[in-house]
Amino acid sequence: MKELEERILKDGIVLDGGVLSVGGFLNQQIDTGLLSRMAEEVRRLFADAVVTKVLTVEASGIAIAIAVATAFGVPAVFAKKSMTSNIVGDVYSSSVHSFTHNRDYRMTVPKRFLSPLDHILIVDDFLANGAALQGLISIVKESGASLAGAAVEIEKGFQGGGDLIRASGVRVESLAILDSMEQGKLVFRS
Ligand code: G4P
Repeated sequence: MKELEERILKDGIVLDGGVLSVGGFLNQQIDTGLLSRMAEEVRRLFADAVVTKVLTVEASGIAIAIAVATAFGVPAVFAKKSMTSNIVGDVYSSSVHSFTHNRDYRMTVPKRFLSPLDHILIVDDFLANGAALQGLISIVKESGASLAGAAVEIEKGFQGGGDLIRASGVRVESLAILDSMEQGKLVFRS
């Protein structure tokens, strides 16, 4: 998506350790116009798919998940990263090792939010090594729902997570794919 690539070039900040900060327009402060246009683009890309729910994981995936769910007119569900007292009943869960943050966590979704009749579109802000996406895919499989695919705002293609997941047969659409961020120079996949 040209507009997103241009915005990343203008306002993205490359930090040490191969991390791209987009806190000024995608993560912490959100450009709501851009958010809606990205959601419409995801809707266009998955126009041929049946989608009954959009699934993401807290925290920064929630904004784009709500926008995409609104575009499809379906509910948005997010996995929590910790068991809290307000989670009621049985849960689907998956343990995830985040390479980016070098920590392990367990993501959970109450069973009553996903059913075998659902067609799930997974949405997230970043796709790096793909641990978060793999965790969400595993939860969808466990629930017996169909997986329509996954849509992410920014894929760090050079970390390989997206291509690995595509090779497993899952449809992954990314609005911007970075092939390199070396020496602060951003190169997008054409
Ligand atoms: P991983 O396997 O390498 O850990 O990557 P994964 O694709 O699962 O993404 C893990 C987390 O790292 C995600 O956040 C993702 O948003 C974030 N992330 C990865 N690379 C970057 C980057 O270059 N810039 C930014 N801003 N975030 C990145 P999370 O652990 O789910 O946490 P949260 O931020 O959503 O709370």
